[in-house]
This record gives sequence, C-alpha cells and structure tokens, in this order.
Amino acid sequence: MTSPDKFHPVIKFMHGLMAIAMIAAIAIILYAGEMPRGPEKFELYFWHKSLGLLLAALIIIRIVLIKKIGKPAPIGDGLKKTMASVAHGLLYLAMLALPFSGLVMSYAGGHSIPFFGLFEIPGAEEKMKTLGGIAHEVHEIGGNILIGLIVLHVVAALYHHFGLKDDTMRRMFGHKK
Ligand code: HEM
Ligand code: HEM
Repeated sequence: MTSPDKFHPVIKFMHGLMAIAMIAAIAIILYAGEMPRGPEKFELYFWHKSLGLLLAALIIIRIVLIKKIGKPAPIGDGLKKTMASVAHGLLYLAMLALPFSGLVMSYAGGHSIPFFGLFEIPGAEEKMKTLGGIAHEVHEIGGNILIGLIVLHVVAALYHHFGLKDDTMRRMFGHKK
C-alpha cells in the first residue's frame, strides 16, 4: 500500500482520545500510589482499570484501522525519520503491553476488572502467582518506560513545531494538512 500524505481524521481522533485516556490513567495510578490503603485508593484503582480496559480495546481498533487506512511517514530526513518511526513503534509496543499486562495481573491475582460500573470481568477463582508476578513486573517496568517515551514524544513534537517549524504538529492536530 502507498502511504497517504495525511492522517485520516479517525486516526487523529483516536490519537487524541487515547492520549488523554492514557495520561489520565497514569496520573491516577501515580496519585493512588501515594495514598494509604483504603476505599479512596480503591476508587482510583477502579478508574485506572476502567480506563485501562477501554485502552486495551482502543489499541486493537487503532492498529486494525492503521493497517487498513495507512498513515504518512514521519516528516524529516534520514536519522530523524528513522528515530520517529522507532519511537512510534515502541509507543505501540507499550500501548499493547501495558493494558494487557494489567488485565493479566489483575485476573491472575483474583481481582475483578471493572468497566466504569457498566460490567465487571471477574478475577480468577484460584490465584496464579507466577503469571501474576510476571505480569506485575511487565506492568511496572513497562509503565515507567512508557512514561519516558511519552515525555520524549511530546518534547520531539514541540521541537518539530517550534524548533524545526515543520508541519508535524499541524498534520496531527490541525485541519489543513
Ligand atoms: C500532549 C501529548 C501528545 C502530543 C502533543 C503528541 C503529538 C503527536 C504528533 C504531532 C504526532 C504526528 C507525528 C508524525 O506526523 O509523524 C504524533 C503521532 C503519534 N503519537 Fe502522539 N502526541 C501526544 C501524546 C501521545 C501519547 C500519550 C501516545 C501514546 C502513548 C502517542 C502516540 C503516538 C503515535 C503512536 C504516533 C504515530 C502516529 C500513529 O500511529 O497514530 N502520542 N503525536
Ligand atoms: C494503557 C493502559 C495502562 C497504563 C498506561 C497503565 C500504567 C500503569 C502505571 C504507570 C502504573 C504504576 C506502576 C508502578 O508502580 O510504578 C500502573 C499500576 C497499576 N496498574 Fe496499570 N496501566 C494500564 C492498564 C491497566 C489495566 C487494564 C489494569 C487492570 C485491569 C491495571 C492495573 C494496575 C494496578 C492494579 C496497578 C498497581 C500495581 C501496584 O500497586 O503494584 N492497569 N499502571
């Protein structure tokens, strides 16, 4: 498939929606981490898990759509272009690893997974310690890597807009390009 020269509006919408949901999920769990055990902390877990489950579904839809519609290559020459492609690949890897390790971690630990009070996926009846432990490690290490990647991604986007003054930001958030 030849790559299109602009992002499809649905891809732009999904990028924005998922960015907001993901940053919210991260902010909520980091805040919850500072709180003592209790109902308020578990309320925040409820929101983190619900957003995480939503993001698990959205990332699958986004990957399928991008495979179908395609997307433009990053703007820039040689090394910058390669770096952007690698960074986007790593973001996709983290966007898959985080929600799914979260789901496995909760399920294996015997904890239910809520979805904004609409329904709940029950946890395993018998805890699966090894699986839960591995998923927990992936979630914790992956979470920290994802935070680093997002910071880098936003700094790169700002550099393109204000430093290089190219169309990178405009074609993802603007109307024209
Ligand atoms: C305020 C936050 C954000 C800004 C300003 C931003 C900005 C951008 C821009 C300008 C592009 C277009 C790059 C290009 O044209 O090649 C882009 C693409 C992309 N962004 Fe973000 N982004 C943000 C948050 C996020 C987050 C939280 C994620 C995921 C964790 C993410 C993942 C991606 C991916 C994977 C692409 C490649 C295009 C695609 O496959 O959809 N972004 N972003
Ligand atoms: C895109 C989706 C997700 C992102 C970006 C994300 C990110 C994170 C981050 C950054 C942490 C803190 C890790 C640390 O302790 O340093 C965390 C913890 C946690 N996440 Fe997620 N998560 C996502 C999805 C999920 C899902 C779907 C579930 C479960 C259904 C979940 C359950 C948890 C739990 C229970 C913790 C606390 C673990 C602990 O205190 O040891 N997460 N998550």
